[in-house]
Amino acid sequence: AALPALLARMPKAELHIHIEGSLEPELIFKLAQRNQVALRYASVEALRQAYAFTDLQSFLDIYYAGASVLLQEQDFYDMAWAYFEKAKADNVVHAELFFDPQTHTARGVAMETVMRGLSRACNDAHDQLGVSGALILCFLRHLSEEDAFATLEEAEPFLELFIGVGLDSSERGHPPGKFERVFARAKELGLHRVAHAGEEGPAAYVRDALDLLGAQRIDHGVRSIDDPALMRRLAAEQIPLTVCPLSNLKLCVVGTLADHPLPALLAAGLVATVNSDDPAYFGGYLNQNYLETFEALPQLGPREAYILARNSFDASFVSDLRKERWT
Ligand code: ADE
Ligand code: ZN
Repeated sequence: AALPALLARMPKAELHIHIEGSLEPELIFKLAQRNQVALRYASVEALRQAYAFTDLQSFLDIYYAGASVLLQEQDFYDMAWAYFEKAKADNVVHAELFFDPQTHTARGVAMETVMRGLSRACNDAHDQLGVSGALILCFLRHLSEEDAFATLEEAEPFLELFIGVGLDSSERGHPPGKFERVFARAKELGLHRVAHAGEEGPAAYVRDALDLLGAQRIDHGVRSIDDPALMRRLAAEQIPLTVCPLSNLKLCVVGTLADHPLPALLAAGLVATVNSDDPAYFGGYLNQNYLETFEALPQLGPREAYILARNSFDASFVSDLRKERWT
């Protein structure tokens, strides 16, 4: 009984949350009405019923459809603000938010609209909730290198509004190497670099994300468990993995939470963290991920709770000075 309370109340950082994946069905319908966007689903309930995924792609199709209601700066603000309120309730004190500008610019939404709405929510979350937020621009890997380059260029006027770049969407068939030159450019611009790798794709994609993209963190990375040499490297170099247990369960990356490799990753000395990925779609925000994962895995106790919370700060991109005040 003490462990769930500890998990819920301990201060923590969240490093793997797609802000479009925090869009709850109720807000999707509210924004659809506000913006006169037609939805393929008749009701909130019908939409929620469609949240039965068999793999990553079956989720992404619905996730991109949900994001189609976002048009105005205020829509992006409202989405992010709703997330920050959930984060506050979960004792998240710092969150690094992924966003997918190509999902929006492809529909005619200006980069500036996306950037201004999200960054205003980050500022208000800091001032009104005491939660610090930072933005990471993700490239959609199913689109071309050229499209990613154009997106980075469109974002350059707003360089002070985001801290890094990431890589997400359909992993299989879209290896990290496709974006080697884009990530080199992002590094030149002084941006942090992260990448989804080893979620559905092989351990080799994790190695490629490190070697070809200069990734400073790996998002998911759970398939690293298949490659002992890679595991030793991740431990030696203390490369953080942003693990998302409920996502892995809902997208059938693992059969049950009891089979999740998180305990093995920690036991091997990796800097693993717990995150929610797309909480509106996968059945829970950050504390729910901690609670269900610890409940399913008796190897995880108070010591691991402390290590995971500490890892979340260590793996974050906030300055070391601020980390010292938090931990
Ligand atoms: N975009 C949103 N969630 C994602 C995930 N889990 N993997 C890849 N791309 C995503
Ligand atoms: Zn993700």
